[in-house]
Amino acid sequence: MTINQRAVLTGAGAMSRKWLEAIKTVGGVDIVGIVDINPANAEARAKERNINPEIGTDLPAMLSRLAPEIVFDVAIPAVRHDIVSAALAAGAHVLSEKPMAETLEQARDLVARAKAADRLHVVIQNRRYLAQLRRIHRLVASGAIGEVTGVHCDFFLDPHFGGFREQMPHVLLLDMAVHTFDAARYVIGDIASSAYAEEWNPAGSWYERDASAFASFHFAGGAVMTYRGSWAAPGLRTSWESYWRITGTEGSIVWDGADDIRAARSNAHVSGQLLPDTAMLEIPALDPADRIGGHLGVITDFLAATRGGPLPETVGSENIKSLAMVLGAIDSSTLGRRVEIHI
Ligand SMILES: NC(=O)c1ccc[n+]([C@@H]2O[C@H](COP(=O)([O-])OP(=O)(O)OC[C@H]3O[C@@H](n4cnc5c(N)ncnc54)[C@H](O)[C@@H]3O)[C@@H](O)[C@H]2O)c1
Repeated sequence: MTINQRAVLTGAGAMSRKWLEAIKTVGGVDIVGIVDINPANAEARAKERNINPEIGTDLPAMLSRLAPEIVFDVAIPAVRHDIVSAALAAGAHVLSEKPMAETLEQARDLVARAKAADRLHVVIQNRRYLAQLRRIHRLVASGAIGEVTGVHCDFFLDPHFGGFREQMPHVLLLDMAVHTFDAARYVIGDIASSAYAEEWNPAGSWYERDASAFASFHFAGGAVMTYRGSWAAPGLRTSWESYWRITGTEGSIVWDGADDIRAARSNAHVSGQLLPDTAMLEIPALDPADRIGGHLGVITDFLAATRGGPLPETVGSENIKSLAMVLGAIDSSTLGRRVEIHI
């Protein structure tokens, strides 16, 4: 008989529902404790899932009492560094919500702590685990549009979350744009070397600050990413994945962030026309090897890694490259100039 892994979950708010469901789906894990500064949230999650974990408000105390093999961190970004540090110090593998930290120093520190403790520290960058993004990645990797020269993303939505986001500084860049930046980095296959950005709060915004932003990044190999976004943009919403245009030396891809992907290749080298003919490209099918499934996909890969499987692609030492884009953009917006990005 195999023995289930023992895990403590911390941060029992809205997102923890999805986590607990996915953890149950993967199986092989007992949630032996739930920590939240608001114990009513922890109790509610336990009741919903019909489980009977220890409920507490003090993570280090619970960790020393229960010595779990795994900590699932779904709390707010402001307490992430404390939670992940405590979990690693207690010898647990950690799967953490995004963003992986609030500053690059904190992120570097967590990567170093995970290495020193020889524990896994993985981040839920769930939007990388989207089937359509995997298909786009395959198309780019096939060389069908030549070399990627630009990724341009528009993100316009109007969510009324309530809670921590409405007071959080840099809310759009830090809490949301990290997904789009990470996905762009994945498609370009390179590291951003500099950032230029501006944040503002549009009239009528229900956020305290920073609900809108634009950002541009130069990548080491010469590609550029541009982003325009707002969380206070009522009407004509884009998808949560943004609306994308990827430009290459020989063609382009557009993606509505949902199911519509279109790509075309230019025949410039044969036609000599002002606007050369283009030919539509077929979008590759998903390969069985493609890792998909959003939260469930990342949680599956994390748990597999704790059981001896391969290192997940959203491990902290990789994910810091996406966080560095966010923090570079925030620095640029604060300083009012382009900044270099150093990981
Ligand atoms: N990956 C995604 O697509 C996605 C989507 C939504 C939220 N998130 C992330 O999930 C995290 C949680 O977001 P949410 O929407 O569930 O927020 P939420 O406000 O609904 O829940 C946060 C919970 O953390 C608890 N908490 C606060 N401080 C704590 C502490 N010191 N120790 C333990 N618990 C503490 C709060 O009491 C609350 O129950 C955030 O980092 C957010 O960015 C990710």
